[in-house]
This record gives sequence, structure tokens and C-alpha cells, in this order.
Amino acid sequence: MDKEKIKSEIKKSYGEIAKGNIQVGCCSTDNGCCSTDEFSTCMAEDYSEIIGYQKDADLSLGCGLPTEIANIKEGDTVIDLGSGAGNDAFIARSIVGESGKVIGIDMTQEMVIRALQNNQKLGYRNVEFVLGEIENMQSIQSSIADVIISNCVMNLVLDKEKAFKEIFRVLKPGGHFSISDIVYSGSIPVGVLDASEMHVGCVSGASEKDEYLRIIEKEGFRNIQIKKERKIELPDELLFKYMNDQELIDYKNSGSGIFSVTIYADKLEEGNCSDSSGSCCCKGVTNNSKEETKKST
Ligand SMILES: C[S@@+](CC[C@H](N)C(=O)[O-])C[C@H]1O[C@@H](n2cnc3c(N)ncnc32)[C@H](O)[C@@H]1O
Repeated sequence: MDKEKIKSEIKKSYGEIAKGNIQVGCCSTDNGCCSTDEFSTCMAEDYSEIIGYQKDADLSLGCGLPTEIANIKEGDTVIDLGSGAGNDAFIARSIVGESGKVIGIDMTQEMVIRALQNNQKLGYRNVEFVLGEIENMQSIQSSIADVIISNCVMNLVLDKEKAFKEIFRVLKPGGHFSISDIVYSGSIPVGVLDASEMHVGCVSGASEKDEYLRIIEKEGFRNIQIKKERKIELPDELLFKYMNDQELIDYKNSGSGIFSVTIYADKLEEGNCSDSSGSCCCKGVTNNSKEETKKST
């Protein structure tokens, strides 16, 4: 399917979710992804005990908890990419307080409207929600964010290199990101990855894990760490829609898998060659992503 068509399907589906026309777990049920409660609960985290949690903003669309490892501080400017109804943005607001700022960006108009309605009820004057695409954040100035967060969105972004270039641009030197996302390792059957219905549901647009980390490094980030990783078990009834018995057995025996990960990375200040891994990351002296990437669970 062509990229623009996929993008407009994504907007259409999330628009329906925002309007409350589709009941979801983490993904969109009418697109064949979260057809069971079992699957929906396996992706989204329980936010209910987290300070700043707003039930109206929680559409169970996440696949991690990016604020948990984001090291957000009072007074910070935080950008939430693919902010949905504002779930993570409002949690970030509870940390940055009155002196900070939170900007949510989302390409689905209905989501932005829903987030703005939630914000109006809360009365936060330092929280904004803007309509826009992560790959092209024209409305966001360069070097304004201390921290970027995102929850289960980058897998839906078709041009990840462009998106990470933009993330690098809007982050301040010395800033960092915490992104929860879906990635895969090994070889996932084409039927699973390519089903466009599943694309809306977080899985088909996912990147291979090492390739994803390589893009992040290529766009200039350093100290790249997978802070959390959890295997996503897709229900058999879903997989049977895309493969036969033998293919399913082969897939299960292959060691391949789909994972929810939360990734942290720094945009270093100019001339700063140190990172917490102790490895050199000066300009022009980069280790490859596998060596440089540390996994800390
Ligand atoms: C799975 S939902 C996650 C929403 C929110 N982060 C949460 O956890 O509740 C994905 C959101 O990302 C938005 N989105 C997808 N691709 C995008 C892009 N390229 N630019 C901006 N927003 C995008 C969708 O409109 C949708 O609101």
C-alpha cells in the first residue's frame, strides 16, 4: 500500500478512536489487531497509580511507560510525540510543574481536539497540543526541548530516519529522549508485518530492533540504551488470520519475536565526548550501534 494511503488510514482509525467510535485496547479492534482483551492488556501499561494520571486521556493506546525513565525535571520543556488524548503529556506536566512546558504533537485532528478538551478541563496554561507530523514538525522551533517522550507511535511513522532527524533538531543540546515503541527481532513472517490492518495496531510498521537503534545512532544520538524490554505474545487466533498451522509452528520455534521497548538516548552538547557507557562518541569516532548500545533492564 502506498505511504500516503497508509497514513490516511492511520489518521482515520485514530480519528474514530478519539471520537469514541471504536473501543480499543492498545490498538484498533475493527482493524483486526486487538481482537481480544488478552492482547489489548498485553501492550498497555497500568497508569492508574501514576501521579498526574488523567483517566479521560488514557485510551489504552500505549505500549510502555516513557515518563518512568525520562528523567524529566521541574521547569523542563517536554514534547510528547503522537500525544493522542494527552495521557503521557499530563503525567509530564505533573513533573515539570508551573515553570515548565509540555507540547503534544499528533497528526490526527480528532486526537488533538480530544487532548485540547482534556486540557481545558484541567486548566493547564503551559500545556499545548498541536496538529502535525513527527517527520516534519514545522511548528516546533529547533533546540527547545529538554526531553522528548513518545508512547507507541514511532512504529506508525513511515519515515523513521526523517522522524529521528526532526527529534534531534527540536531537542536542546544536552537533551534526551525516552521512547516506548514496538520492535521485532529475527524474521517475522511477512503476513504478520505487512497486514495493513495490523499496521494501525502497532505491529506491522515496527522496525527490526538493531536497524531501529542504528537509525537513532545515525541521526546523531549517543548513549543509546534499551531501558525496558518485554516480549509481546500475539494471540494464536490473531496470527491464524495471517498464516497457516505450519507457518505458525515455524514462527513459534524460530526465536523471532515482537517486543515492547523503552529506549533512552542523549543529544550530546557540542564537544561533549563522554557518555555514561564510558565509550567514546566524539564526532567521527563512533562505535557501531551494537557495541555502543547498552541494554539495561
Ligand atoms: C498508538 S496511539 C498512541 C497515543 C498516545 N501516545 C498514548 O499512548 O495514548 C498513536 C498516536 O500517534 C499518532 N501518530 C501516528 N503517526 C504519527 C505521525 N507520523 N506524526 C504524528 N502523530 C502520529 C496517531 O494519530 C495516534 O494518536
